[in-house]
Amino acid sequence: MTDRYASFVQTAAGRTLVKRLGLPDPPRLRRHTPGDPLVPGPVLLGSSTGGRLAEPVGKVLTAAGVELVDPAAATDATTRFAALVYDASGITDSTGLRQLYDFFHPQARALLPSGRVIVLGTPPAECGSPREATAQRALEGLTRSIGKEFGRGVTAQLVYVTKDGDAGTPVSLESTLRFLLSGRSAYVSGQVIRVGAGTATAPADWDRPLDGQVVLVTGAARGIGAALARVLARDGATVVALDIPAAGDELAAVANEVGGSAVQLDLTAPDAPTRLADHLASRHGRVDVVVHNAGITRDKTLGRMDADRWDSVIDVNLSSQERINDVLLERDLIPAGGRIVSVSSIAGIAGNRGQTNYATSKAGVIGLVDSLSPVLRERGISLNAVAPGFIETRLTARIPLMIREAGRRMNSMAQGGLPVDVAETIGWLSWPASGAVSGNVVRVCGQSLLGA
Ligand SMILES: NC(=O)c1ccc[n+]([C@@H]2O[C@H](COP(=O)([O-])OP(=O)(O)OC[C@H]3O[C@@H](n4cnc5c(N)ncnc54)[C@H](O)[C@@H]3O)[C@@H](O)[C@H]2O)c1
Repeated sequence: MTDRYASFVQTAAGRTLVKRLGLPDPPRLRRHTPGDPLVPGPVLLGSSTGGRLAEPVGKVLTAAGVELVDPAAATDATTRFAALVYDASGITDSTGLRQLYDFFHPQARALLPSGRVIVLGTPPAECGSPREATAQRALEGLTRSIGKEFGRGVTAQLVYVTKDGDAGTPVSLESTLRFLLSGRSAYVSGQVIRVGAGTATAPADWDRPLDGQVVLVTGAARGIGAALARVLARDGATVVALDIPAAGDELAAVANEVGGSAVQLDLTAPDAPTRLADHLASRHGRVDVVVHNAGITRDKTLGRMDADRWDSVIDVNLSSQERINDVLLERDLIPAGGRIVSVSSIAGIAGNRGQTNYATSKAGVIGLVDSLSPVLRERGISLNAVAPGFIETRLTARIPLMIREAGRRMNSMAQGGLPVDVAETIGWLSWPASGAVSGNVVRVCGQSLLGA
């Protein structure tokens, strides 16, 4: 669906009205097109004293062809940067937080539209002292505030990089840096992302980071699932697109468009996990990436909700994911290096009136990530979730107008996200290069004020 207001404010008349009346001003977001340079301008890379991450980050960005500028050399006040990247891992107590001010204050107006702010730190739980943990935890307040303050499509994220194993090496950091700097992360802001230890494999071509991967997408006939099929195929994957038999025509159209195959299957059928596993085993011998995207809403306030509405939502959105994971893992169809990505929702984080069933199922998805990701890490498989906010699909088109307008505007981007924004985020979590990223729940919500 289209956001007519966002289109209108891009016109001359729209710009005048927005300025005069102080109306919300949704910027045009920079989104990814294959072949784009990683960033549309130079990147300012700074470090706190003793930071351990600026060096590997510098290596990644230089190898990616990015023009890096050192803060000591950034004396030309007219330079506009595509990103400000700061290694805060050297900050060991609260007095050291002043280094953040010293780096960001002079550059607060120096970012290009849709610019990027990335702060890197150490997970507080791994810090050597309570003072260091306190200072590292404080980084979250800075990044979340910058995301709300800078405007013009600028995003801001905090990346905690573990000290374990290979973490903090260029190969483990690269996929996350590339995602966050590029237009792929247009609608992701105010997030805390954890990069841990894990085997990451860089692709031969970063424009095809899923080359050779077999990917299952559930709920692929329309909406976010159809966008997923397109994005993952564009990035090199062979897509197995699944949806209910009633959506067979739409599903076939999507599968044909992306050169993949279609599986008509109701995920709640008792034999669905075995039939799916048989299909994947006989066609491909494996599945590298499983994206649990299929989902339904059956809204009613709890007192008016019949048991069918409760049962069907929990079954499609949560229990079916568990049953399918169990069978695919038991039959060893997801190899080491495999990825599972589940779709949650900000309703699962913040709750929502009339959605006790839905929010329960989506919070359960977060529980699944928390509990199963450490177990899967031992098999070399990552498990993450994305939590979309307001995304322009048929699902949100059904929301009454005034609530829909509020949902659209109440975020740092002042607009709804597009299915492609969720798809790009799931894509990043699916890459072989993202082996160091597991156990995360990444919101794709334009930094929504709901559930913040
Ligand atoms: N649109 C949003 O704003 C938004 C926000 C948060 C989360 N989400 C989540 O994103 C996912 C995709 O949402 P969407 O907006 O594209 O919804 P959608 O209704 O457009 O698409 C969902 C797809 O899942 C399929 N599906 C439903 N039940 C199934 C079953 N039993 N077996 C197989 N397939 C089944 C449907 O046929 C449909 O094609 C869902 O999990 C949804 O909860 C969406």
